[in-house]
Amino acid sequence: MSLPRHIAIIMDGNGRWSKDRAKPRHLGHKAGLEALKTIIEAVAKRGIRYLTVFAFGIENWLRPSEEVNYLMSLFLTALKRDIGRLHEHEIQVLFIGDRKRINTELIRSMEEAEALTRQNHKMTLIVAFNYSGRWDIEQACQQLAQKVAENIMPVSAINEAMISHHLSTAAWPDPDLFIRTSGEQRLSNFLLWQLSYAELYFTEKYWPEFDENELEKALAFYALRERRFGQISEQIGMKDAS
Ligand code: IPE
Ligand code: IPE
Ligand code: MG
Repeated sequence: MSLPRHIAIIMDGNGRWSKDRAKPRHLGHKAGLEALKTIIEAVAKRGIRYLTVFAFGIENWLRPSEEVNYLMSLFLTALKRDIGRLHEHEIQVLFIGDRKRINTELIRSMEEAEALTRQNHKMTLIVAFNYSGRWDIEQACQQLAQKVAENIMPVSAINEAMISHHLSTAAWPDPDLFIRTSGEQRLSNFLLWQLSYAELYFTEKYWPEFDENELEKALAFYALRERRFGQISEQIGMKDAS
């Protein structure tokens, strides 16, 4: 079975999961964190090299402040509590997103996590936190414009590869498989540039219900895709889905 090298996930439906169970929203986020831990280990176990998860989008600041505060403190607690275990599993942890609006204690924990796990090569976990796809493209444009203004490079040097190289994801291949839970079928300003050729998988399951068995279903879906990248079937041959 052909496996993706890089999976990107929008972990959605924590709120509806809790609503269905007549529980407060924060318990949905707590349950979502448990699901994330299960999926990180399941992805690593399969030898998949990169996993990017959308943990907090720039637009999520618009939520009620109690929820935003809860998410920030959950994130900090989880980072402090679970980074050791990720390190034991030889997982490198990195963060993408705008660090400007995040509180200093959280930033410090994020930097410590990155430093601690820097040498790990089993899997790279990329956490998109205070991230948006348009922000990423905007900051890449600013870097490129700066280089042109300083005569470091000519305008003609700006091409696709150069833009990719200035995105926050420059160090990794683009995702092969995109997963969104909870029945929503949209990108919500996630990796806009990087998902150009990803296979898109949507499931009705809420994120807290997404377990190893659900991951298997997504991987089985992926294995059956024929990725043509503009070519026709005959040029690439029928893919062996067995
Ligand atoms: C995703 O679940 C978690 C975050 C955005 C942090 P939601 O909180 O969006 O859950 P729904 O969409 O309200 O069910
Ligand atoms: C996207 O989910 C962001 C994260 C999962 C962190 P949302 O649930 O906030 O997305 P929309 O607003 O419904 O599109
Ligand atoms: Mg949602």
